[in-house]
Amino acid sequence: MNPVLVSASVLSADFLHLEEDVRKVIASGVDGLHLDVMDGHYVPNLSFGAPLVKALAKISTVPLDAHFMVTNPLEYVDLCRQCGVETMTIHPEVVYHFHSALSQIRQAGMKAGVALTPSTLPSVLEYVRDLVDFVIVMSVNPGFSGQKFIESAPAKIAAVRQMLGERVRIGVDGGVNPQTSLLCRQAGADFMIAATAIFGQEDYAQAIRSLRG
Ligand code: DX5
Ligand code: ZN
Repeated sequence: MNPVLVSASVLSADFLHLEEDVRKVIASGVDGLHLDVMDGHYVPNLSFGAPLVKALAKISTVPLDAHFMVTNPLEYVDLCRQCGVETMTIHPEVVYHFHSALSQIRQAGMKAGVALTPSTLPSVLEYVRDLVDFVIVMSVNPGFSGQKFIESAPAKIAAVRQMLGERVRIGVDGGVNPQTSLLCRQAGADFMIAATAIFGQEDYAQAIRSLRG
């Protein structure tokens, strides 16, 4: 089993000292920053939007993955491109034309990510597989950090890996801790996204290492 990459979800960072906290997590060895943009419509929570994505892009020295939990993600393609966001991740349920949406992200020069909620079938990927760079299997219902890992996620990771092969990176988002990370790695995931299991710990470097396995 290969060690996995770890991305820190800033949703649980210290918002009163955000720059300091984000610089600290980067210095602690995280491989990427995961930005959860929420609109209070697609998910029952409001987080942050374009101004914060822009600000974090300015100070980040690691790649950014922007996870859009909004009803209109395509309105942010240009902004993400301008900021240098590496991967723009969307939920298939919110776009009328999924194939076209992924193409727009790719044409803007970014990697296209697809987030699957716990109830979303992996078959949604079947006819767009050539347009997908990154799949996030969500192991909680989107909206909040600090939720409990949903046990069906590893089986879905294995199904996605089987369907898409090795080219596509598979991340897990929600309730990731050292124990659930191991289950997900065994199922074929190669990217862990974590908020609480990093920002909720005293020693970020140690927390990141324990998620890598
Ligand atoms: C949930 C977000 C996650 C969240 C993860 O909708 O997509 O990225 O911040 O938080 P933890 O790691 O605490 O489950
Ligand atoms: Zn997320």
